[in-house]
Amino acid sequence: MNLRIVACLLLALSATRAAAADLSGTWRIDVPRRGGVTLHTYFVLRQHGAELDGKVVIHGGVDLPLRKAHLEGADGVFGTDWNTDYRLHPDGDRLRVTISYSGHGSEEATAVRVPEAEANPPPVIPLPALEPVPANGLAPTPPMGWNSWNHFGDRVDDQIVRETADALVRTGLAAAGYVYVNIDDTWEGARDAQGNIVPNTKFPDMKALADYVHQRGLKLGIYSSPGPKTCGGYEGSYGHEEQDAQTFAGWGIDYLKYDWCSAGRLYPDSALPAGYQKMGRALARSGRPIVYSLCEYGMGDVWKWGPQVGGNLWRTTGDIQDNWASMSEIGFNQSRLAPYAGPGHWNDPDMLEVGNGGMTTTEYRTHFSLWCLLAAPLMAGNDLRTMSAETLAILSNREVIALDQDVLGRQGERLSSRDAIEIWTKPLHDGGRAIGVFNRNDTAKAVQLAWKELGRSAPPKTLRDLWQHRDLPVAADGWSGTILAHDVLLLRVQ
Ligand code: GLA
Repeated sequence: MNLRIVACLLLALSATRAAAADLSGTWRIDVPRRGGVTLHTYFVLRQHGAELDGKVVIHGGVDLPLRKAHLEGADGVFGTDWNTDYRLHPDGDRLRVTISYSGHGSEEATAVRVPEAEANPPPVIPLPALEPVPANGLAPTPPMGWNSWNHFGDRVDDQIVRETADALVRTGLAAAGYVYVNIDDTWEGARDAQGNIVPNTKFPDMKALADYVHQRGLKLGIYSSPGPKTCGGYEGSYGHEEQDAQTFAGWGIDYLKYDWCSAGRLYPDSALPAGYQKMGRALARSGRPIVYSLCEYGMGDVWKWGPQVGGNLWRTTGDIQDNWASMSEIGFNQSRLAPYAGPGHWNDPDMLEVGNGGMTTTEYRTHFSLWCLLAAPLMAGNDLRTMSAETLAILSNREVIALDQDVLGRQGERLSSRDAIEIWTKPLHDGGRAIGVFNRNDTAKAVQLAWKELGRSAPPKTLRDLWQHRDLPVAADGWSGTILAHDVLLLRVQ
């Protein structure tokens, strides 16, 4: 046989092999997680020749369309969406999958075929009509404490929470006002035969943990979702709202962060208020005072209806990241929401990144100053057990915390912005004001601040620098000086 014919035959054969591996159908991979939990990701695939389309259902939470999916040669398939790439390698009746998270490593898994219905969300439970939930009287000033997510992610466990409670007391942060010790996602196990949510093995006894935290004069917070799955793919409160509120109250929980996530697979955005009201009402009926933190990333103008559904605070943005771009983008964008904050109901620009390592000490000082001017909830997001003296000094600056916790409860606003120098101001209960002069430039800037720019005809009586902890001389016309790159001058004027 002529060589060319052999080559053609081989090519034809491999093409037949590629075509034979029809990947159409529903595939499931099991992803083991800490705490003895197994999460599932589904690939719902349709193959047309060498092209694939379909979707990925991540941990039952989000549906992502598969993009750019095609067979590579006889046995390689490539699908991508968001920041995650899936490489699918047919292997007999299985599918080997390499999942690469851009910049965050990769995982290997094997997918098996399952009935299509397994990947579907559960039936939609109709939501109750809107009817205001009475205010719970909690959070007269923005809640302060710690949350596990920013630093620990899915590593949080009973021991870390106990050690963090100890650290709050030891470092003086508890005395400075940080009282909530909040467990974020990944504590959840399965439900028992009666439908009660049971923590996974990272949290052997939630009630005992609450007792430990309470004995130190602190409060314990927890996390769930109105959807069937949390953002991390763990068990949510869907269809178990009343039962979970009772369970949380029984454990001694004092704070609930409730994260929309997979509820978005079942309900349109217009259902957000009713979805949140359902748990708001359940918490009100639980017989225990529980701060209610809405986490739906600012969708549907949550600040307009958050208080009516029983919310004490609501996230106004997507997730913060531990870098200057993310923090400043979020923080400097909050001015227009000032009218919606007040005692008992606060805008939440997300938890603090102070001390997590991705910003300079100067930038963390700016982060903290801005959050305090915003009357934002102050949830430390770092490892309090091992933080540096600089980090502790920022988090525990009582003169700055006093701005955040001022009983007037007014959120600060931007007064002006010129050449990336922003002046923010926050009225205080004693008639004084906080002034933040921020330099968003990457270089130091000479700044002149005229009293009349602050709306004053005369110089203030006193001018207190809240980071230097000293009164500055008051000049007749204003303040002038240099502000370093990404730094802030934070003043209290009387
Ligand atoms: C979402 C929230 C985060 C965190 C994670 C946990 O992304 O916005 O704050 O709670 O879920 O999975």
